Amino acid sequence: MRNREHEIYDVVGIGFGPSNLSLAIALEEYAASGPGNEMSAVFFERQSSFGWHRSMLLPSATMQISFLKDLVTFRNPTSSFSFIAYLHASGRLPQFVNNQDFFPTRQEFHQYLEWAQAQVADRVVYGSEVTSIRQPFSAAPQPPDRLLLEVADAAGRAGRVIEARNVVISTGLVPSMPAGTERDERVWHSSEFLEKYRRMNPRELRRVAVAGAGQSAAEITRFLYDELPHAQVFAAVPSYGYSVADDTPFANRIFDPEAVDDYYFGTEQTRGAFWRYHRNTNYSVVDGDVIRELYRRSYDDEVRGVSRLEFLNLTMVTGVKRVGAETRVSLQSGPDAEVRELNVDVLVCATGYDPMEPTGLLGDLDRLCLRDEAGRYRVERDYRIATSPESRCGIYLQGGTEHTHGLTSSLLSNIAVRSGEIVDSIVARRTA
Ligand code: FDA
Ligand code: NAP
Repeated sequence: MRNREHEIYDVVGIGFGPSNLSLAIALEEYAASGPGNEMSAVFFERQSSFGWHRSMLLPSATMQISFLKDLVTFRNPTSSFSFIAYLHASGRLPQFVNNQDFFPTRQEFHQYLEWAQAQVADRVVYGSEVTSIRQPFSAAPQPPDRLLLEVADAAGRAGRVIEARNVVISTGLVPSMPAGTERDERVWHSSEFLEKYRRMNPRELRRVAVAGAGQSAAEITRFLYDELPHAQVFAAVPSYGYSVADDTPFANRIFDPEAVDDYYFGTEQTRGAFWRYHRNTNYSVVDGDVIRELYRRSYDDEVRGVSRLEFLNLTMVTGVKRVGAETRVSLQSGPDAEVRELNVDVLVCATGYDPMEPTGLLGDLDRLCLRDEAGRYRVERDYRIATSPESRCGIYLQGGTEHTHGLTSSLLSNIAVRSGEIVDSIVARRTA
């Protein structure tokens, strides 16, 4: 880690998923672009090593976006950190091209991210969680020009205080469980799926249920059906059946970098149109191939006269209780909202996520952050939270900006460009 000796950084990144990895590279490339461009930076990541939704690295899961929307290409197509550069370094570029597929597996993309992070790893401290950000007391008339971050180690011991001129918060989506359900060793959220699954003896899983009708639910249902040939798999879907993710070209334009301006500078009405017409590009939808694969499995079962895969449509999970060794799931089903119970060995809640929420981290500093009429953060076009004049430091968000910047907020589509814009903003404010 560079600059450890003085522990005052121009940029401190909180969380080191793809967003802040892309930022670390953008800083690296900016530093290389001219003398005096070096900025001191450090990134804290609570996982012990790099991991991108590891518990959902299911064997056949593919990316939801083109490999060209990698960490850098849309900002700098000549970058040495691109997915193509990774393929070249791995000796697989021709083979990848022969495959004629824009959507690599998540496992391959994960390897790419690991390859990229290894090149900037001297700026990253793994096994470290930032627990709070605050502004130091200052008797001077000018507000302080730095923030203090408290960092706990892997054992949860607080200890280190870091000073930052700018912080970039990128702590990711927050798993959401159905009301009335708590996670335990038999009730899982999709975000912890493989980690919990691997602790089980598969032979003991004879009745498993998956709640949700999004990509996570469909992938987990397919995985459980394939991995547990002796088991009954229930899919509790709130819709009539899985709906397809719209990835057609015109709709895909909402993920273009220019769409951020159209959203940000749009009217309430035009912003509403993004959601009304295009929510089905991302939320509660499933890739068409996965839908067809699941249907095929269910139909083949029917032909064979078995029903191992049972779709419970128009069904919501409304609660769970433990009865002896069994997990009893309450379901509300059908047009007349009939309530029924289902005994299973495991329930997987693939029930989605809440947006990134930095309020807890910001603590007292939050009172200096401006909010809109709906109580949401006011965020500048450069992803900096608008603050009162009592704060001079930059607090940037990578995530949690759907209300200001649109649908790409929590996705990979725009991370290359967004990271570049954040670097430009930090540089411009530093030299202003
Ligand atoms: P991400 O969640 O990846 O990283 C946040 C990091 O912050 C984590 O590593 C976490 O440990 C760390 N952290 C949290 N709090 C911390 C703290 N206080 N201190 C230190 N570290 C902290 N999108 C897309 O465009 N295409 C796709 O194919 C997919 N695929 C996909 C699959 C699955 C299974 C999910 C759940 C989501 C996707 N997504 C996606 C959307 C997803 O949000 C996106 O791919 C990235 O994970 C966003 O990267 P971030 O770095 O913003 O968050
Ligand atoms: P999601 O799209 O938000 O879907 C959550 C689903 O859970 C919705 O169908 C929701 O129904 C349902 N639900 C909520 N509460 C429920 C309840 N009580 N009972 C039954 N169902 C309930 O979440 P996701 O599938 O995890 O996807 C999140 C993001 O991750 C998306 O961007 C997705 O593309 C991405 N992802 C990508 C991959 C990949 O790259 N291969 C894999 C997985 C996920 P309502 O619609 O009614 O709320």
